[in-house]
Amino acid sequence: MRILTVVGTRPNFVKAAALLEEMGRHPEIESVLVHSGQHYDYEMSKTFFEDLEIPTPHVNLGVGSGGAVSQTAEIMRRLEGVIEETQPDVVVALGDVNSSLATALAAAQMRRTLAHVEAGLRSFDRTMPEEVNRVAIDALADVLFVTEPSGVENLLREGKPEEAIHMVGNVMIDALRRFLPRARECALPVLLPMSKNIREQREAYGVVTLHRPSTVDHRPTFRRIWAALQDVARELPLIFPVHPRTKVRIEDSGLRETSCSDTNRLHLAPPMSYLAFLRLQSEAELIITDSGGVQEESSALGVPCLTVRENTERPITLTEGTNRLVGLDGNRLLDEARKVLRGEGKVGRIPKLWDGHAATRIVERLLNRIPDVHDLVPLGSSNERANIARPQYRLM
Ligand code: UD1
Repeated sequence: MRILTVVGTRPNFVKAAALLEEMGRHPEIESVLVHSGQHYDYEMSKTFFEDLEIPTPHVNLGVGSGGAVSQTAEIMRRLEGVIEETQPDVVVALGDVNSSLATALAAAQMRRTLAHVEAGLRSFDRTMPEEVNRVAIDALADVLFVTEPSGVENLLREGKPEEAIHMVGNVMIDALRRFLPRARECALPVLLPMSKNIREQREAYGVVTLHRPSTVDHRPTFRRIWAALQDVARELPLIFPVHPRTKVRIEDSGLRETSCSDTNRLHLAPPMSYLAFLRLQSEAELIITDSGGVQEESSALGVPCLTVRENTERPITLTEGTNRLVGLDGNRLLDEARKVLRGEGKVGRIPKLWDGHAATRIVERLLNRIPDVHDLVPLGSSNERANIARPQYRLM
């Protein structure tokens, strides 16, 4: 079975790691890995391949930056030749980023069996680019791998057949469980101003990540959140590895100066490698984020998380995990952070099937289900399909 997996962004790399490793255990699977190039900086891409031991992609589409529409279209255009050449039995799209949508559209148009890992999540907020991507990918997918019960409910409500939906757990947590021991040994970046204090004096700290357009692109909103972060930092020093999108917004809004004073405790840092960031999260008192993956990782680590959004597509992190939504106005952020510092942060439990074996379940289902799935997307007659010569694809 030839399985083509497409990755493009940081969260894709983390989700693909365990899956690719599991595929590698099965000699009957030939895995083809494609990198769309959506994330391309060393810190946003290469370091993740190193930390997570992901094989070098067979193909890099080198798409680079762009608006959602042009980026998605360009990835589709470049992926077409790769799908044509490799004729995969299954195409795997991970998560909800533009690269995942492009993968789904290309696979569906080229009548390949499409598997979506992390299917069914819904924020019900179509202003989020990721929500549009999720809805479209799931509408096209033949096999849907789900991380939490809300995903199953959403997909059934949208009319997906029950037999296509598989509750398998969370591949991101597979990676977390596998790499946490190594992360705990990992040195914190020397550039991080607080590294020495954390290492030598075990100074308590919080971690911040913000990058969503809804959080950082609207200047008044971002300024309010920034002010709230400064307030929290007076009570607990915060480490903020800054995403490239956010770096531009901080500079445009003239906020960088406010983080340069001697009394500043909101420490900005460059984006971190997977292992360094996992170590930082695992030892934090508090995590403040707008990321989907970090909401899940903080729940798995048992660290209280405040999510700077009005909604989440991952409700299990609220009902079972350590997550609380604090909205975008900055007011609740300080109140909730104070609660955490008083020891009133949420104590959650790890959701069912977030046990480090999601990738095993996915690969098992793919191997077992593939004959039925082929029936769903016939390529002409079955004889015609059987006679297709498999061209060689180029290794990079
Ligand atoms: C993307 C995903 C988001 C995910 C995030 C993780 C979509 C719609 N969004 O958002 O769901 O949580 O990745 O990081 O796909 N840039 C660089 N260097 C890079 C990559 C990006 O400078 O290596 C810049 C781009 O030029 C662009 C900005 O960062 O200006 C945003 O990049 P983009 O890939 O469009 O989306 P993200 O905000 O990273």
